[in-house]
Amino acid sequence: MRAPVSRPLPALFQPETTPARRVAQHQVNRNLALLLLLLTFACITSFASAYYLFTTRWEARKVPRPWLQADTISQANASTSTDEKFLAYLPHSGFHNQRIAFENALLLAYALRRTLLVPPIRLGNKPIRYVEYDRLSRHHELSAKEGLYHCLQVPPYVSRPPECLQYFESTYLPWDWLVNMTGLGSQQPLVYRPNMAQAWIFKTTGVEPSDVFTLRDSVPYQYRFLDNDSHYSPPQDRYSQDIYFTDLANVQERLLQFGTLFGTSRLRLRDPNNLAYRRRIRQSMMFSNNDLLSVADSIAGFFRGPYVAIHLRTGDGSFKRTANETAKEVWWTLLRDVLGVPPSEKCELEQKFAEESSNNCIPDPACADATLELSSTPTSRPNL
Ligand SMILES: *[C@@H]1O[C@H](CO)[C@@H](O)[C@H](O)[C@H]1NC(C)=O
Ligand SMILES: *[C@@H]1O[C@H](CO)[C@@H](O)[C@H](O)[C@H]1NC(C)=O
Ligand SMILES: *[C@@H]1O[C@H](CO)[C@@H](O)[C@H](O)[C@H]1NC(C)=O
Ligand SMILES: *[C@@H]1O[C@H](CO)[C@@H](O)[C@H](O)[C@H]1NC(C)=O
Repeated sequence: MRAPVSRPLPALFQPETTPARRVAQHQVNRNLALLLLLLTFACITSFASAYYLFTTRWEARKVPRPWLQADTISQANASTSTDEKFLAYLPHSGFHNQRIAFENALLLAYALRRTLLVPPIRLGNKPIRYVEYDRLSRHHELSAKEGLYHCLQVPPYVSRPPECLQYFESTYLPWDWLVNMTGLGSQQPLVYRPNMAQAWIFKTTGVEPSDVFTLRDSVPYQYRFLDNDSHYSPPQDRYSQDIYFTDLANVQERLLQFGTLFGTSRLRLRDPNNLAYRRRIRQSMMFSNNDLLSVADSIAGFFRGPYVAIHLRTGDGSFKRTANETAKEVWWTLLRDVLGVPPSEKCELEQKFAEESSNNCIPDPACADATLELSSTPTSRPNL
């Protein structure tokens, strides 16, 4: 059986509309008209504001951007001398890993008498992690900001164009913004790269793409560089391949391109001249940026007496797991080696702090063994 189709009753059978109903009907009509008017108005205003936002989107926010100079100022002039040889490498990971690679690159370029193409420091929450040479090179090419400066002008109330989504995740700064490069710059030729594009190298240095010797790595600890031919890495060494400075000096190509140069023990130096220059490089890495120094000074102003500051990595991986032990070791090293507190007083101090903090008594190994040695704390492990 099918349910009967319900149909509206013929007009004849509909109950007659009473005057009261007519008034109600009238009211409904008026409300509808009002609603329509309102909707039309809303429609027109939203179109108008969308049009306004569209036409004014790139002018609205003029951000002062002194650090943009990082990308423009250091457009060093192309070296026209065809004898000049260059050295480049691919940085990666967080700031201190980039610094370690930079120190190694400075020494290699100095020893090989090549002009170092200095990459910018890349800062941000999402570092470019180590991957094998070709992929790392590609990641650098893709993270360049050329042609994207309009992203800075997009006002905050407009959703960002897709090409700008990652724009604010990182920034490039030239090394000579952060540290004083004057001393090293007088010892060896340096050219500051505004970005990591290969094309910039060829354009600026005049090197032909065919005139490049690339040392491709496929794992982070692959090549170790030694400055003495009768020297070698111990067999248990984590680097898998020794390369001698004399081999690198024989490279005839105008551009010697490395992948990662990260690692505090990547260079195995014997030559006293190189060792001295490496010390000088490391001393030069002290921050000298006036803005940063004034922030540090204002923080220091809060302490009434002299103080010691420690930069301790405890946020990730094995550093996180061993954070408590590391903090303890650093504390004891500080007392013993920096402040010269004798062992007996160290124990008193420890007890005093333990009482002050909580009832959680800190175990004090050095009280039992005053000759506690700082166990080898991994300082050069990359955050890959
Ligand atoms: C590059 O060379 C040109 C002409 O030789 C000179 O005018 C210009 O100032 C140089 N630029 C830099 C950044 O050295
Ligand atoms: C940078 O170092 C050089 C010497 O290496 C020194 O003469 C100069 O005053 C330093 N510059 C600043 C800003 O500290
Ligand atoms: C390499 O080291 C040996 C001994 O350590 C030394 O006698 C020799 O002069 C060094 N060679 C060079 C080129 O520095
Ligand atoms: C380190 O010590 C603190 C306080 O004693 C404790 O709460 C924390 O769980 C410890 N962390 C590790 C990783 O052992």
